[in-house]
Amino acid sequence: MDELSNPYSPGAGLRPAALVGRDSEIRTWTVALERMEKERTARSIVLTGLRGVGKTVLLGEFQRIGQRRNWITAMVEAGTGQPLRTALAQALYPELTDLAKPSAGERIKKALRTFSNFTVKVDETGTWSFGLDLSDQPDAGANTGNLELDLGQLGRDLSAAAAEGGHGLALLVDEAQDLRDDELTALCALAHQAGQRGWPLIVGLAGLPSLPRVLSEAKSYSERLFTFHLIGKLDPVAAHEALTEPAGQEDVEWTDDAVQYVVEETGGYPYFLQEYGQATWNVADGPSLDLADARLGASVGQNHLDTGFYRSRWERATPAQRAYLRAMAPDGEGPSSSSEVARRLGKTPTKLGPARDALIKKGLIYAPEHGQIAFTVPRMADFIDRQLQP
Ligand SMILES: Nc1ncnc2c1ncn2[C@@H]1O[C@H](COP(=O)(O)OP(=O)(O)OP(=O)(O)O)[C@@H](O)[C@H]1O
Ligand SMILES: [Mg+2]
Repeated sequence: MDELSNPYSPGAGLRPAALVGRDSEIRTWTVALERMEKERTARSIVLTGLRGVGKTVLLGEFQRIGQRRNWITAMVEAGTGQPLRTALAQALYPELTDLAKPSAGERIKKALRTFSNFTVKVDETGTWSFGLDLSDQPDAGANTGNLELDLGQLGRDLSAAAAEGGHGLALLVDEAQDLRDDELTALCALAHQAGQRGWPLIVGLAGLPSLPRVLSEAKSYSERLFTFHLIGKLDPVAAHEALTEPAGQEDVEWTDDAVQYVVEETGGYPYFLQEYGQATWNVADGPSLDLADARLGASVGQNHLDTGFYRSRWERATPAQRAYLRAMAPDGEGPSSSSEVARRLGKTPTKLGPARDALIKKGLIYAPEHGQIAFTVPRMADFIDRQLQP
C-alpha cells in the first residue's frame, strides 16, 4: 500500500502514532507534576530498559506533558561528547527567552541572571543572552565551575521563577548511564535539594538497565530520590493496539490472525512492532492487512533490523569484541556469567576485561549483577546465530 501514508514509525525516539502500554508511567509523571504545582513533594523518575523499548519516546512524552502544563522543560542526551552544563544551557535557552520580557517579574529576572552566570564559562560568544539589562539583579553565583553547586543554584532560581506562575522545572536526561560521575552526582544532589526544600523541580532520567547501579555508585541515597520504572516489551493487548490503532487512523484494518502473528513474532518489542508494521503495510496490496502480508512483512522487517539495528552495532565491535559477543550468544537473552564466557573463549576473565569494558562503554552489553553480563539489544543472540561469517 501507499508508503506515503504508512503510519508506522521505526526509528530512534520517533513518536509512534499510537503510544500504548505506558499509562502507569505517564500517570506517575503527571501526578508528580500536579503534586508539585500544589506545593507538595514528589520523587524524580528513572526509566530503564533495553534498546528499542521506548525510553526516549516516553521521556519525550514527559516533556510534552510538562510543556502542556507550562512548565520550564529541558530534554538532553548524555554521551554525545557535550558536557551536561552546555547541553542544559542549550535546551533551556529557548524556554527562558520566552520568559525574558522587560515586564518580567523579579523572580524571572533573577533566574535569567543566574542562567547567564551558569553559562558564562561555556558561552564565550554570548550566544545565550536575553537582550535585557540584568545588572541590577543580585549575583546568585552559579558560576563557580563546580557543577553540583552551580546546578543547585540554577535549579533553585529557575524553579522559583516557574513557581511564580504555579508551574515548575523539569530536567530530562536521556542515555543517563553515559553521564560523567560529577554530572550524575550533581543531578542526584539537585533532586535531593529540591525534595528537601520543596522546590517544584523534577528530574527524569532514562537509560540502560545499568542506570540504577550507576546512580547508587554516584550517590548512595539515590534509591530514595527516584522511583524506578522498568520499561519493557508491550503486553499482548498493548502490542495489538500498537499495530491496529495507527492503521485504524488511516481506515485500514488488520485481520485478527495477521495481528496475532506479528505480535508473536515481535515478542511485543516496540521497535520491532514498528518495523514489522511498516514493512507489512508496504508489501500489502490492501484494502486490509492479512496473514500473507504479515508473513512477508515480518521477513522484510527482520531483514531491515538485521541490516540496520543489529548490523550497525555489530560493526562497532572489533574482532576481539565480536568474539566476546559470540561467546555470550549460547545464553540467548542471558544473562551470561562472565567466567563462563571466558571459559568458552579459553581465556581468563581478567584477560577479557578490556573487551568486556569496551563493549559496555559502547552500550552493547551491560552488567546486570556482579559477574554477569547481558546484551542491551533484545534478541542480539539470535542475530549472532544468523551470522555465518565473523
Ligand atoms: N509505547 C509504544 N508503543 C508503540 N511504539 C513505541 C512505543 N514506544 C516506543 N515505540 C517505538 O519503538 C521505537 C523505539 O523507541 P525509542 O527510540 O524511544 O526506544 P529507546 O528505548 O529509547 O531505545 P534506545 O535504547 O535504542 O535509545 C520507535 O520506533 C518508537 O516509535
Ligand atoms: Mg533512546
